[in-house]
Amino acid sequence: MGLQKKRPTDEPDCHTLGSMIGKSEAMRNVFDLTLRIAASDSTVLITGESGTGKELVARTIHDRSRRAEQPFVAVNCGAIPEDLLENELFGHVRGAFTGAQNSRSGRFMTAKEGTIFLDEIGETTPRLQAKLLRVLQEREFNPLGSDVAMRTNARFVAATNRDLREAIPAGQFREDLYYRLAILSLEVPPLRTRREDIPLLVAHFLERFSGDRRRTIAEAAMNRLKAHDWPGNVREMENLIERLVTLTDHEEIHVDDLSELGGDMQPSPRDTNLAQFTLPSDGIDIDLCIQRFQREMMVQALERCHGNKTAAANLLCLNRTTFIERMRRHGLGLLIPRRLASPNGHGSRDSDDPSGASS
Ligand SMILES: Nc1ncnc2c1ncn2[C@@H]1O[C@H](COP(=O)(O)OP(=O)(O)OP(=O)(O)O)[C@@H](O)[C@H]1O
Ligand SMILES: [Mg+2]
Repeated sequence: MGLQKKRPTDEPDCHTLGSMIGKSEAMRNVFDLTLRIAASDSTVLITGESGTGKELVARTIHDRSRRAEQPFVAVNCGAIPEDLLENELFGHVRGAFTGAQNSRSGRFMTAKEGTIFLDEIGETTPRLQAKLLRVLQEREFNPLGSDVAMRTNARFVAATNRDLREAIPAGQFREDLYYRLAILSLEVPPLRTRREDIPLLVAHFLERFSGDRRRTIAEAAMNRLKAHDWPGNVREMENLIERLVTLTDHEEIHVDDLSELGGDMQPSPRDTNLAQFTLPSDGIDIDLCIQRFQREMMVQALERCHGNKTAAANLLCLNRTTFIERMRRHGLGLLIPRRLASPNGHGSRDSDDPSGASS
């Protein structure tokens, strides 16, 4: 079995590695490290928040390794109770426990010369951690109820969304096991720290879930997605796009669809999406910009409320007196008759003098 030699990414656009997508520098580093790890045979610990793509990285490491033709066996250590997990990993012999009428080989055996992926390794109990340490150190384990040690030649890849170094002093994770696992380590960065990847991932999931239909996304909706913090990372996005594609019929997904189907992803209605403002390379005059922004928002609020100052002040979370005082400061009284005619042509519905002078 010869080691595969690959460039960091093999596809011409350099935006994918296997099923992994990303063009940010952070993801290109992940691609690069994934291939380096795939070329070695050492145990590796993959860390990262939930939904960042740890399992995808583990699979890619396997697929690009010399073990690719052998099984990839994933075990979720967090989803199975301890005694069942031991049985799952090590197998048992006949009579090992009540009801064990036949022997059964465990996942270490099923993995053969392939890769065993121990997902959510941080959730294992100290007793199981001791057994795993033995497997990692000696490559040996005993099936439940057996005195005969078995050997495994599988490669170990583990993943966790916990900080295991913090779990060590708390007595929740064995230090010796940690160092055995983390001979190589790879951290998958959260999506909010690599926002350049968001449009690419959105396009990828749109295509995946749309089937034969063409589905697009409006710029404002994309801006909202780019500004979101994605606490559930790529998995959260995958689920959202599936929901949007399934529950809407129109070709273009709008910002209103996000408001309706985006769960808790919308910014607070009284807040704004600052990610759409980028500091120009030659900087800005911040005080001037704040003044201009304030004036523009006041004009828009007055327009939307057809000159009704009380309603416009409410839209901006200002009290009416402050709003009128600022109208004066910005010279907005003169603008009202020209820009704020109501749709029925009767001008401001506010009973006040639109210049604010009467209040
Ligand atoms: N870079 C990526 N490109 C394309 N799809 C991705 C990427 N990262 C993650 N995904 C997809 O997002 C989903 C979550 O990824 P995965 O299961 O690998 O995350 P995880 O870190 O193991 O999550 P958890 O901690 O919840 O187990 C999967 O469907 C995966 O295919
Ligand atoms: Mg996972």
